[in-house]
Amino acid sequence: MRVLLAGGAGYVGTHTAIALLEAGHEPVMLDDLSNTSRVVTERVAEITGTSVPLVVGDAADDEIIESVFDEHGPFEAIIHFAALKAVGESVERPLDYYANNLDTTYALLRVGLAKGIRSFVFSSTGTVYSDPADLPFTEEATRDLVELSNPYSKSKLMNETVLADVQNAHPELNVTLLRYFNPVGAHESGLVGEDPKGVPNNLMPFVARVAVGVLPEVGVFGDDYDTPDGTGQRDYIHVVDLAEGHVKALENAHPGLVAYNLGTGNPVSVLELITSFEKAVGRELPKAMKPRRAGDLAATYCTPIKAERALGWKATRTIDDMTRDVWNWQQKNPGGYEG
Ligand code: WQD
Repeated sequence: MRVLLAGGAGYVGTHTAIALLEAGHEPVMLDDLSNTSRVVTERVAEITGTSVPLVVGDAADDEIIESVFDEHGPFEAIIHFAALKAVGESVERPLDYYANNLDTTYALLRVGLAKGIRSFVFSSTGTVYSDPADLPFTEEATRDLVELSNPYSKSKLMNETVLADVQNAHPELNVTLLRYFNPVGAHESGLVGEDPKGVPNNLMPFVARVAVGVLPEVGVFGDDYDTPDGTGQRDYIHVVDLAEGHVKALENAHPGLVAYNLGTGNPVSVLELITSFEKAVGRELPKAMKPRRAGDLAATYCTPIKAERALGWKATRTIDDMTRDVWNWQQKNPGGYEG
């Protein structure tokens, strides 16, 4: 099927475009390139042998979305990746986060419904869960908006509310909420990977830039959490497993609204991730203990059993696969896509 990927030239979108092509689908990317590079389309073509159309524009602009439908449609489905997504940054820029992360959804729904799409897949997040007493998080563990610690997570939960009400008014629409845990890793070719602009907020790309010599040392944000080694635990999922989950979700979509946790269910600590990365690199990496980061939970990880049963999908790649693939990408692209 032909699928519009809003924010599709980003980290998860690019890997999903590859997985869609490999499954025989026809993705088209709409992206404002605010956190990626148009080089990704060349890399996708090198990997798959297929050129994916990329329209550069704002996914919150109805006229731009309509022009994509007119030029590259019709589309059976929209996958909505386009969002600002740094937890810490969202606390400093709430208006940008609420405006961007909601206006894109409004515009994509307005145009998508008018053009008769059947499915809407939404890039949501495991940070919509907040109560450690609910670990490992199932899809029923969402709590009230006010329980969430940051505008990013709140914007995602607000999106889920909007989508539920829109689906209620359009019973024929398939809405799938994919709650990602921590996407990391890179395609095995090393041709595409995570390339955040500026100094990375997230651990894995930060460690990768220390390993390749671009940054001096890794700061470990807190070693006094109530976890086995005192450092924060997360449910890291290989981005290719995540991409394959999107294809399964699309192919199993049906009228109604459904949410799936896309994670491994295996909590990995900061020190365990760094140790795995050092194994991939073959040497120790410079690191230093730092104070906790505001807004961080000690641990967050899911039970992915619902997606496994309903979609026939399961994350299979280990943390060592993730760090090996990230190191391969970073070595081949020490300066990212722009070199
Ligand atoms: C992971 C762990 C930090 C940086 C991310 C995305 C968010 C969402 C979930 C999709 C924590 C520690 C970090 C560093 C460190 N993804 N850390 N030193 O905060 O879980 O959120 O995944 O929806 O959008 O931002 O990921 O990689 O920032 O932190 O010690 O330099 O690493 O304290 O324990 P996080 P992260």
